[in-house]
Amino acid sequence: MSAPLLRLAGLNQAYGQSHILHDIALDVPQGSCTCVMGRNGVGKTTLMRAIMGQLPIRSGQILFAGANLAGQPAHERARRAIGFVPQGREIFPRLSVEENLQLGLPAARTRGRGIPGRIYELFPVLHEMRQRRGGDLSGGQQQQLAIGRALVLRPRLLILDEPTEGIQPNIVADIGRIIRRLNQEEGLTVLLVEQKLAFARMLAERFYLMERGAVVQAGPIAALSEAMVHEHLHV
Ligand SMILES: Nc1ncnc2c1ncn2[C@@H]1O[C@H](COP(=O)(O)OP(=O)(O)O)[C@@H](O)[C@H]1O
Ligand SMILES: [Mg+2]
Repeated sequence: MSAPLLRLAGLNQAYGQSHILHDIALDVPQGSCTCVMGRNGVGKTTLMRAIMGQLPIRSGQILFAGANLAGQPAHERARRAIGFVPQGREIFPRLSVEENLQLGLPAARTRGRGIPGRIYELFPVLHEMRQRRGGDLSGGQQQQLAIGRALVLRPRLLILDEPTEGIQPNIVADIGRIIRRLNQEEGLTVLLVEQKLAFARMLAERFYLMERGAVVQAGPIAALSEAMVHEHLHV
């Protein structure tokens, strides 16, 4: 078997004195959709932000395509084509849709370059609304904008943190179809944080279940049992 595209080994992170992530080991195989699950507060977002270099880690390795990104600045992730859709979307409400998309391009490439037509083909609503302010979009449209922004750099790995949170069901289905198309038809490797079980089961091949900052279960998605769901997901 070939090496995973992303491998985390012995990852520890703390906010000051508060030790959150404990010896995380996680593999994202090339071409897979790998899902990280777990209740609120278990450390999923902290883990994604650590991978993205937005939070310092205390120890461990973040191996991407064989290179260790631990300790390297956040912009190294964009340079190496890791796309990130943060929890809560973090779009800029006063900038236009088009300007928000341009922010996904690495600075050196922004000038004189338009948004790839492919983004508007995947999300026609963003084309229709390209001159509108980000803040004028619905929650679901903002989520599509955040995904589009992550795709403009043509990522090798796309990381999405709870992309369905607070989104109306018809848009959840649209977002699911887009992620599936990118992953299964175009071979894009995906790391997805998701609490909606049906959504995770539809998209992911493998899962990692977290509890109190540690991985407690992992395996093929078919091995995610009702007992595990009861113990680690539902309240
Ligand atoms: N900026 C921060 N400073 C201190 N503690 C934080 C900060 N952000 C999150 N935490 C704590 O880290 C833990 C994990 O949070 P988070 O990664 O957001 O979990 P999840 O994404 O699984 O809901 C929680 O106990 C949370 O209170
Ligand atoms: Mg979170």
